[in-house]
Amino acid sequence: MLSREENLLLCQTGPETPMGKLMRRYWLPALLSEELVEVDGEPLQVRLLGENFVAFRDTNGRVGFLDENCPHRGASLAYARNEECGLRCIYHGWKVDADGQVVDMPTEPATSTFRNRLRHPAYPTREAGDVVWVYLGPPEHEPTFPDWEWTRAPRAQRGASKIFEDCNYAQGVEGTIDSAHSDYLHSSDIRGRPRDHAPRLEAVDTLYGFKYAAVRAPDVDADLYKYVRLTLFVAPFYAFIPPFRQGRLASDSDTPGEVAVQQAFVPIDDEHTWFFTFAYNRKGPLPAYWRQHAAEFGIEHGHVGRPVRNRANKHLQDRAAMRAGNWSGVTGINPQDLTVAEGMGPIVDRSREHLGATDVAIIRYRRRMLQAAGALAAGQEPPGLGVFAGLRTDERVVPIDTPWQDVPTFGEVTA
Ligand code: FES
Ligand SMILES: [Fe+2]
Repeated sequence: MLSREENLLLCQTGPETPMGKLMRRYWLPALLSEELVEVDGEPLQVRLLGENFVAFRDTNGRVGFLDENCPHRGASLAYARNEECGLRCIYHGWKVDADGQVVDMPTEPATSTFRNRLRHPAYPTREAGDVVWVYLGPPEHEPTFPDWEWTRAPRAQRGASKIFEDCNYAQGVEGTIDSAHSDYLHSSDIRGRPRDHAPRLEAVDTLYGFKYAAVRAPDVDADLYKYVRLTLFVAPFYAFIPPFRQGRLASDSDTPGEVAVQQAFVPIDDEHTWFFTFAYNRKGPLPAYWRQHAAEFGIEHGHVGRPVRNRANKHLQDRAAMRAGNWSGVTGINPQDLTVAEGMGPIVDRSREHLGATDVAIIRYRRRMLQAAGALAAGQEPPGLGVFAGLRTDERVVPIDTPWQDVPTFGEVTA
């Protein structure tokens, strides 16, 4: 349970809020590179952390990321002409480049030096893993660019997707760090889990956030072994969930190899979120299923439109399928997660909840992030600004007296 004030502290990410200031200290995934393919192509409106921006690919192929409103009188630069390394506003022709320099003011006298005194807010971008990343924070605090393992994988082995989520980002985060729900919400889609549906959860803080284990009794030899499923929370909104292997998904009988999954819940504003999935097959090409999983799950890619399933149509929950044995009546793991997250409403009232024994990671997450937001205001650096190339997670059976913290590759930072 959180007080109403704590709940707002967790959920609000506008520029003046403590959590918004914290999030602005990280590189953020903003777009898929495929949304900005064309050099000098159409600029995109991008809303992030409650602010409006325009993104464009300039003549040199570089991605510019600017405040949306023109420095002159505020016309939207999403309507601008994208030409010769800059956006030229269609209202009076002022032109701004990717560095925020006002490079032309055709309505001013030729002798004017006005434009040299102006600087339009522009933000550094990078492209990695076919994702456009942006840093919105104070320039003097720009952190090292994160070296996620999947961004260095060959293109054929990785994929990124992005789905619009009609609720606050923390509802997404709290769904993905909640190991207990899989046995219920996803029970018609995920196979191979033990019958023990009341996992014991243990969490430890790490440099990047925290890691936690959900420990279950295996179906056989429960006196000798334990089944450990490890999930990592990486500040400010990422989760690493155990890799998918062949046979794990009921609907995906031929996933070859080992598909590692990193998820990100990026606030659009306080009531909307981009849910990114970064998938990486360490052992071969990424199956098409993962490459297009958003579409296959019946969700349109975010930049194309809103998900087909939403609160207005009760996420197309199929009662006949439920009568026939399906647990949730919603097809696909992502749609199931979105259904419960969005079904709570835009910002769930955490002062009215009743947390149970399996909510250990939820409690840890809130405490860690509220603490980090408070500490930043007191001058302390945020967690997870390092370069974490070797983050690994897994689920496996280990001897019952092995501390899960000691199992190799469980949350290790190897580089
Ligand atoms: S408002 Fe953009 S040039 Fe005037
Ligand atoms: Fe889930």
